[in-house]
Amino acid sequence: AETEEKPPLEIVIAAPRGFCAGVDRAIDIVELAITKYGAPVYVRHEIVHNRYVVDSLKAKGAVFVEELDEVPDGVPVVFSAHGVPKAVPHKAAERGLNYLDATCPLVSKVHRQAERQVEAGRHILFVGHEGHPEVIGTFGQVPEGEMTLVETVEDVASLTPPDSENLAYLTQTTLSVDDTAEIISALKTRFPNIVGPKAEDICYATSNRQAAVKAIAASCDAVFVIGAPNSSNSLRLVEVSEREGTQAMLIQRAHDIDPRWLANITTLGLTAGASAPEALVREVVDALREHFTITERMVKTADERIVFKLPRGLEDEAA
Ligand code: F3S
Repeated sequence: AETEEKPPLEIVIAAPRGFCAGVDRAIDIVELAITKYGAPVYVRHEIVHNRYVVDSLKAKGAVFVEELDEVPDGVPVVFSAHGVPKAVPHKAAERGLNYLDATCPLVSKVHRQAERQVEAGRHILFVGHEGHPEVIGTFGQVPEGEMTLVETVEDVASLTPPDSENLAYLTQTTLSVDDTAEIISALKTRFPNIVGPKAEDICYATSNRQAAVKAIAASCDAVFVIGAPNSSNSLRLVEVSEREGTQAMLIQRAHDIDPRWLANITTLGLTAGASAPEALVREVVDALREHFTITERMVKTADERIVFKLPRGLEDEAA
């Protein structure tokens, strides 16, 4: 035979990976809105942090903008899965816009907790990453000055809250499980009377994906994480793998793979952030198949069955 034998590569695929229920729902909302109202349907901010998803929806008639001001009168607008400050739906209603809220129900839950804590007279210490749209959205649920951002354990020492006896903490949904546990423990040490959520705010999808990559990383020579550089939960998957001692690369598509990364590698871990579709996992495996004889092995650490209800008004479209 003329064909050169391809070297073997075992790909260990983490499960759960990829789309979560909140991302599935957000994409459904845009698609159903296009079916119901016709194109164009405007979307404020990337519906989920993934180029491939955004481009596929653009092809179907979605128009992506960053601010409500860019939405013309008379067309429907969808708010992204990350959530929006209260001022945004308020403004949309004022303008008489038909808006659909694709905020993940697990983010909305944190929004309601924030409101409740402020009503109870507590100042909120919010654990999250500055500038992330979810953080901006959650800060926008309460009056200015009622919430302070905490990004690191070091931040905890320098906090100067208005009343250290009346504090609550909440967190972003897509944080590192391990880092957040440390920050919360530092908060509780410094402010013994601080109150927090019954269960943590980090969502099931974030913690399941982190646990899954943790389970495979140590036995792999390298890990590829499919996700966008602005996707918080994808970046956390890179960190988890590296903490297990295995170098991880964040890639958006198969063409991002640098062949040098694959030199001397016989076992490659593969996972995907909550906003990355399974089609991209297949794309990466297929691209690797061109150079290697592939064996795939899946390591599953949890079952996910959660599905979120669609907002009222779109349920008929889905039927
Ligand atoms: Fe929601 Fe968690 Fe996904 S907050 S959008 S289920 S990553």
